[in-house]
Order: sequence, then C-alpha cells, then structure tokens
Amino acid sequence: MDVLIRADYDQMSKTAAGMIADLVRKKPDCVLGLATGGTPIGTYQELIRLHREEGLDFSNVRTFNLDEYLGIGRDLSKPYPLDQSYARFMYEELFRNIGIPLENTSVPDGLANDPEAFCDEYEKAICEAGGVDLQLLGIGGDGHWAFNEPGSSLASRTRIEVLTQQTLDDNYELFYKGAGFSREDMPHFAITMGIGTILGARSLIMLANGKRKADVVAAALEGPVTSRVTASAIQLHAGKATVILDEDAASGLNDVDFYKHTEKIKAML
Ligand code: F6R
Repeated sequence: MDVLIRADYDQMSKTAAGMIADLVRKKPDCVLGLATGGTPIGTYQELIRLHREEGLDFSNVRTFNLDEYLGIGRDLSKPYPLDQSYARFMYEELFRNIGIPLENTSVPDGLANDPEAFCDEYEKAICEAGGVDLQLLGIGGDGHWAFNEPGSSLASRTRIEVLTQQTLDDNYELFYKGAGFSREDMPHFAITMGIGTILGARSLIMLANGKRKADVVAAALEGPVTSRVTASAIQLHAGKATVILDEDAASGLNDVDFYKHTEKIKAML
C-alpha cells in the first residue's frame, strides 16, 4: 500500500486524476470503478479539464459505480439537487462532461423491481466486463467503503445494506440539507458493492481529506483489519493500492515520515 500525502484537497485531487488519466491513456477501454460523495468531486473536475483541454478520451472507458440509495434513481425531469440519486450525481459531476457514452456507465439501479436479483446481475456485469482495473474510493465517517457499514463481511458481494445513523447524519449534512430536504426524506437502505467485490479490483485509489477524516483514516490504515472499519480491508488488497490524503486527513497517522520517505525513494526508481 502506498500512502501519498499532499498539501491540500486540490493537490490530492490532481494526483488522483493524474493516475486515472495515465490508465485511460494506457488502456483506453479500461474499466473504472467510481465513487460519489464530496471527496472525489475535485478529481472529477480535473478529469473534465483533462478531457476538454488535453483531449483525454473516455469514449471506450467502461464504469461501474460503488453504490446507490434504494428507492431512488436518476430522474432528469427534476433539477439536479432535487434528484439526489447517485446516478444523477455521476451524470452531473462527470459523465455528461467527459464524452463517455452513457451506455458504458453503470450505477446500481435503486429502482430495480427485484433488488436482490439486480445485485447478482451487477456482479455478473462486472465479471463480464473483465473486472475493474481501477477502483476509486472515499471513506465514510464510520470507516465504510461504499455503503459497507461496520459489521459488513470483508468477503461481502453486491447486496442491500442498512445505513447507520452516522452515515445518514453525514450525508444529510453534506447533500440532502443543502437541497432543502428533511431528514425523513433520506433513504435508509442502499445497494452497495461488497468489500469482496471492491478487493477484486486490480488497483485501488482511496482518497480522504480534512481533519474530520483523520481518526478514521488512521484506524483504517494503521489499525487492525476489522469489519468494524470496513475500509481497513485495504490492508488485504492483493494488487496495487494507493491512498491519497491531504495533510489534515493524514494528521492522525503514526508513520507519516515513512510514507513521505517511501514516495521520494520510489520516485527515484
Ligand atoms: C460513495 C461512497 C461512500 C463515500 C463516503 C465518503 O459512493 O461509496 O463510501 O465515499 O461516504 O463520503 P464523502 O466523500 O462525502 O465524505
């Protein structure tokens, strides 16, 4: 696991976008796993810039998103903040700005008639696409990856999950409140890729910024591997895992000097 520490959110986002862009240039038909939330917005903005100003070509890229609230789906008839689906978030924040055909993009269907059957189909679709080359991740305030809340099996696959109070509170403050919704409007369930699904990706990039994430980042990276902090499963990943943090999110780590030293030495190779 490589831990890269950047001065601020902007530098964190540019580093992540640069790594994704390198893969897209090397493998134009790569499969990207994508995340929603506040953390990756800067990364998506930089990818949009690279597409517009440097011609980064997403026309053959395939994407799978981590999760979606159960009970809602993209509704283009509503103005953006009133459609709180993750499918809409991805459409507005990335897909419509990078020239990727929408049929190349998949977000779990929160309106599926049979959500459990849908979860199996989603797993199958990821397999049929050849697996995820690079999975982008944030980390929740309760240590979750995607919506794998504390207690989720570290071998779990795509399934329906109940959201914790902390996740409901965090997401209400960050998204729902600003769009004028009340707490009662928030869905309590989600469809989420499992931890086993995420660990199947050939490479991972996990992002975190801000003091608010410092303790949970330290628990995930330097604490024990535990289903209480599902992002700690990064320690089990068999491929290339990179964590990109701003100084604030890194401030709870014990080994900051070693991570910085390692990055410097590896750059000389
Ligand atoms: C979203 C997702 C979540 C977020 C996490 C952090 O697709 O998978 O696990 O990454 O909740 O959210 P932010 O970035 O809003 O702090």
